[in-house]
Amino acid sequence: MIVTSLSILVLVFFIILSGVVVLPAFFGSPWHPLLPRTIREILDFAEIQPGDKIYDLGSGDGRILIQAAHHYDAVGVGLEIDPLKVWIARKLVRRAGVSDRVQIQRKNFNDFDFHDADIIYVYLTHQALDRLFPKILPYLKPSTRIISYRFCLRNMQPCKTNNKQNLFMYRLDKGLRVDGYS
Ligand SMILES: C[S@@+](CC[C@H](N)C(=O)[O-])C[C@H]1O[C@@H](n2cnc3c(N)ncnc32)[C@H](O)[C@@H]1O
Repeated sequence: MIVTSLSILVLVFFIILSGVVVLPAFFGSPWHPLLPRTIREILDFAEIQPGDKIYDLGSGDGRILIQAAHHYDAVGVGLEIDPLKVWIARKLVRRAGVSDRVQIQRKNFNDFDFHDADIIYVYLTHQALDRLFPKILPYLKPSTRIISYRFCLRNMQPCKTNNKQNLFMYRLDKGLRVDGYS
């Protein structure tokens, strides 16, 4: 009896471990919860306008989108591969009272369409970014801004970085900007 319960416990532990650590590390990037002041820094840096649609690719606990909806009146979509983090994020979204503006989907961001994104926010490894961006760039709106925390997008020139050099903004514009008009 004790042996059976122990085996079930070990099995549950490994299922959680594979969801939280192995799966994300294999597909893109492990989790590293952000400090509240870092979340504020990221959101201030992103120059969010009310109503902007923000995608968080690998949205973790969803706090970036919750704060973006709360303080900037943004609309957020979080894509997260780990079911446990999806569950936590959905709970936090409900608790924060922003369910009308923030949606968390359990999805692999590599199979998603971002054509309506105003802002794409990422905190992912170089390997994950290298794999993802060449595929999605041609389908983004010219005005889309990409905000990357800690990892720059290789082969792209940021239009803005912060003093600590750990936040990068990229604007696509795709040659449509003429003398400051777009
Ligand atoms: C470093 S965390 C960033 C969490 C959140 N965006 C933030 O800034 O606090 C990276 C997240 O990406 C998720 N992830 C990794 N690969 C993914 C994939 N292919 N599709 C969806 N989520 C993924 C991980 O589970 C993890 O929660």
